Amino acid sequence: MKGKVLTLLRENEKTFLSGEKISQELNCSRTAVWKHIDALRKEGFDIIATQNKGYQLKKSGTLLSEHDLVSRLKGNTLIDKVVFHSSVSSTQTIAHQLVNEGASEGTVVVADEQTEGRGRLGRVWDSHKQSGIWMSLVLKPNIDFRQAPQLTLVAAVALTRALRDKTNLNVEIKWPNDLLIHGKKIAGILTEMQADPDRIQSVIIGMGINVNHQEFPEEVSSIATSLKLETGEGFDRAEMIAEILKEFSWLYETYLTEGFSLIKPLWEAHSLSIGKKIIARRANDSITGEAIGINDEGVLLLKDAKGQTHHIYSADIDFG
Ligand code: BTN
Repeated sequence: MKGKVLTLLRENEKTFLSGEKISQELNCSRTAVWKHIDALRKEGFDIIATQNKGYQLKKSGTLLSEHDLVSRLKGNTLIDKVVFHSSVSSTQTIAHQLVNEGASEGTVVVADEQTEGRGRLGRVWDSHKQSGIWMSLVLKPNIDFRQAPQLTLVAAVALTRALRDKTNLNVEIKWPNDLLIHGKKIAGILTEMQADPDRIQSVIIGMGINVNHQEFPEEVSSIATSLKLETGEGFDRAEMIAEILKEFSWLYETYLTEGFSLIKPLWEAHSLSIGKKIIARRANDSITGEAIGINDEGVLLLKDAKGQTHHIYSADIDFG
């Protein structure tokens, strides 16, 4: 019921809603309405009340709540379950646990804060409270496990399209999974797989997006940015999550039915790497050359000075 009150207030953000109207809409007493409003305020929602006009929700954009996310994701055909935590170690860890307990495809774990956020290659992912989007999505695709890295590229396309649409910023993809604005990192993707020898059990796509950060610690301020720093505006994270998952949902369906070949041109259209001189740092060596594209498997193709083409499956990329 509290969630329904919140949804009504959100749908009428520009006006006031009287206690009577809410009680009629939700078929409950005005005292019950007041109790729910009080509970929402205690959760941090800024709800103003005036005697003659009723209630109005202010700045719903600053907070995340499970009710709000559930109501915004209602029409999404992929999303089956929303799990929200105000603080967790890592949404990836929670998603792995849920898979072990039988979670279905389309379970999405969202947190307001991660205390042990993980990046690629064992790096720490800074995930402060109320500043970003930290979420992990459980998938159970019927594909060969060698194709799983393609899902990182599907997610990169979905994120890029959603962020471009909501902000008008020139978001670009640095292979395979970094999203940059003006050369600084705005978002990252961490794809982890649970597999038996012959089939994928689950793929967990973790997405981290720097949304409302006002600043970054000095050591990362030259390489990281946020949507707020780029535009001067704060963004509604729940609305952004709904847009990202809407984009991901149709791209994933397209990928499963048509294969990677339809995703590839979309990825290339937003790629920052293609045509650039890059250094691919792998676990045991580095190769310098021109990034000439990705192949139909999503593998990066790098042409060295001798004209030899290398297939890069996993590496850290620097521009040369
Ligand atoms: C990277 O660029 O290194 C990937 C960063 C991925 C961060 C996200 S935030 C949500 C999910 N939970 C984590 O612990 N990591 C991913």
